[in-house]
Parts: sequence; structure tokens; C-alpha cells
Amino acid sequence: MVYKRLERILIQLDAVDSTNNYAAHLLKSTKVSSGTVIFAKDQQHGRGQRSNVWTSQAGKNLTCSLIFFPSIQIKDAFYLNLATSLAVRKTLSDLGVAAQIKWPNDILVKGNKICGILIENQINGRSVNSSIIGIGLNVNQLEFGAQVRATSLKKELGREIEVDVVFDQLYGYLDFYLNLLLESNWKLLKKHYYEHLYQKGILAKYEDVDGVFEGIIEGIDDTGRLQLRKNGVLKSYDLKELIYC
Ligand code: BTN
Repeated sequence: MVYKRLERILIQLDAVDSTNNYAAHLLKSTKVSSGTVIFAKDQQHGRGQRSNVWTSQAGKNLTCSLIFFPSIQIKDAFYLNLATSLAVRKTLSDLGVAAQIKWPNDILVKGNKICGILIENQINGRSVNSSIIGIGLNVNQLEFGAQVRATSLKKELGREIEVDVVFDQLYGYLDFYLNLLLESNWKLLKKHYYEHLYQKGILAKYEDVDGVFEGIIEGIDDTGRLQLRKNGVLKSYDLKELIYC
């Protein structure tokens, strides 16, 4: 399989509403290379999953969106979550922070969220034409709302880290894991993902449509759903069907 590595084109913005919005606008209005990244020092209306907002103190964190042309079918789009989460996890690990991936793509350190990922795909027929991979990684922020279980690299390491240094590392790993995706190396992506999956193999509390129960995460199925053993039966869940308690 012939593949093209990411072309590292960086667009640095002082302020923007959302880097994902900016990337979407770029995709519509001009020709963009796979690998283009939009950064913002101050992202003022960051968007999170399920229509949540993503807040980030100006100048403290990495808020960026990568434009990527994956050439995959819609049914395989969940591998973008795997590749991106693995790239973030490995970046943190190299910096001395052990993180886990909470399915599908939250990155946690000791149960606290350090990074959120918002992937938005542009579809053509049965294929994903282009993807906007939005990454919000807490780097030097120390204060988070009282309600929020969040952390940052600085909180974990006790020292300031340059956001650019973190990005350089992350970009290299994005290149690596997204190439596994371009090669359709699903087996390896799933293997690595499972190795770092939060709460895998342990009995923990979850809630589904029938109420709270104790179950064991065993992996993900071929459609990207989470597989949980509940009362001895293996069940697969979509994002909206399961709550971690
Ligand atoms: C989540 O809810 O966990 C996903 C958060 C994703 C935030 C990032 S920050 C850069 C990019 N631009 C956005 O508006 N959102 C993503």
C-alpha cells in the first residue's frame, strides 16, 4: 500500500472561536493538504463532544485541529479515535505522564481528564472524504472548575512545559498512528488501544437503559462499540447507551 505521510503545514492563530470551525471553513474554501494544523493561543468558543463547550485558558494549553484525508469507509471511521487517542497517550507517556484512554477518546490521568478529542468527518457516499481532528490538551493550566475532574501536564509534573514542545511530539505520533490507519492495520491499532483502555478487565459500575450494574470492559467490537461483560453476557454499547458511574 502506498501512502503519503502528513504534510506539516501549521497555521497559528492568536484567537479564534473554534479551531475545528476554522478548519471546516478552510476545507470548504480552499485546497488544503492532509496534515495541515490550525492552532489557537486563545480558543474562545471551543466545542466538545455531545454539544458541550470546551474551555481552555488563553496561552496555557494546546488547542488545535488537524486536517486529514483518511480514505476509509464510514464503518471504519472509529479507527480515527483509536489512532488519535494512542498518539496523545504516547506523547504523554514520553513526557513522564501515564495516561489511559477512556472509550472512545477521552484521555485520563488517574481518573482526571487531561485531553479531549473531537473528530468531525466530511462524508462522501460511503467514504470519509476528510476529517477534522480537534485536540484539546491541558498543558499549563492549573485551575479547573470545582465540578470538573481535570488535570494538566503541569499539575502532574509540577513544572511548566512549552506547548510547542508538546505539539512537536504529538505531531510525530499522529503521523505514526494515522499511517497505521492508512495501511488498514486495524489489528495493531486495536491491540494498542486495548492495552491502554481505562477500566479494562476490572469490575466497575456502569449504567445502561436497565439501570446501574457492575460489569467488566473486554474491548471494542468491529464497529467500535464498547464490549462489556454484564452478568456473564458480553454486550456491545454505543456512546449514548452507556454511562460510567
Ligand atoms: C471533548 O468534549 O472531550 C472534546 C473536546 C475537544 C476540544 C478541542 S480543542 C481544539 C478543537 N477545537 C474545538 O472547538 N474543539 C476541539
